[in-house]
Amino acid sequence: MVSITENEFKELTGYIKSNYGIHLNDEKKNLVTGRLHNVLLENNCRNFSEFFILLKADKSGRIVNTLINKITTNYTFFMRESDHFTYFQDEVLPNLENTVSDHDLRIWSAGCSSGEEPYTLAMIIDKYFGNKKNFWDTKILATDISDGILKKAKYGHYSKEQMGSLPIDFRMNYFNEIDSKNDVVIDRLKEEVIFRKFNLMSNSFPFKKKFHVIFCRNVMIYFDYKTKMELINKFYECMDPGGTLFIGHSESLNREETRYKYIMPAVYRKE
Ligand SMILES: C[S@@+](CC[C@H](N)C(=O)[O-])C[C@H]1O[C@@H](n2cnc3c(N)ncnc32)[C@H](O)[C@@H]1O
Repeated sequence: MVSITENEFKELTGYIKSNYGIHLNDEKKNLVTGRLHNVLLENNCRNFSEFFILLKADKSGRIVNTLINKITTNYTFFMRESDHFTYFQDEVLPNLENTVSDHDLRIWSAGCSSGEEPYTLAMIIDKYFGNKKNFWDTKILATDISDGILKKAKYGHYSKEQMGSLPIDFRMNYFNEIDSKNDVVIDRLKEEVIFRKFNLMSNSFPFKKKFHVIFCRNVMIYFDYKTKMELINKFYECMDPGGTLFIGHSESLNREETRYKYIMPAVYRKE
């Protein structure tokens, strides 16, 4: 295993934090060296200093992309923190149906990983609107920083084991069987989710219209407090009044330090 010096670790993790928000403390040293060992070998780097030089000189984006794909934690699963989906279905959607007069719903899954979260939202929306769906634009924006995981999300292939936590009607109505162990999301549902690469650390958010709903769950656990609060503020600015923000249960906000109104654990409203 290629070892990393104190300085090399500081330099690399400083770069990752300032560009992608991900905060890697000393305890993550083994994780960093373990995940990047083969990348160094493949790029003929004898040590992390050589890798860092390559990284900074990389105009093609190839090394940077490899770094992001290796360093991000993409752990997710269907129906994660399922009380959020219940609230979305029972409270948020009826409210939007009654108040969004132009029938253009704007929903963003930020840090969508391999797609379980946005596809679940698309299934809930499809079921909720039923025959009325044709009168609504309900496309979901799903973004992530890792193009490797976005590629996986777009394929929409999941093992039946991964799908085990989904309600039976979702499994029956929104997937086609590939083989005895794997299914794929049906095309009609895939068309409801627009996957894009987007770095949440970007200074400006390039969205023309404001969002009604933002899911950004289990992304900010890797950010420090300041970075997290800056992102929360950016979400606030690009959200419609009345909009709902869902964050991870371990990421809750200090109520005195946010303009959002607390609704229930890890759910907030812009008033
Ligand atoms: C643990 S997954 C969470 C997936 C899903 N939201 C959930 O709750 O299960 C975190 C995702 O955030 C993405 N991510 C981390 N930093 C990011 C950044 N700066 N911009 C956009 N996405 C980022 C990672 O690539 C990863 O796929």
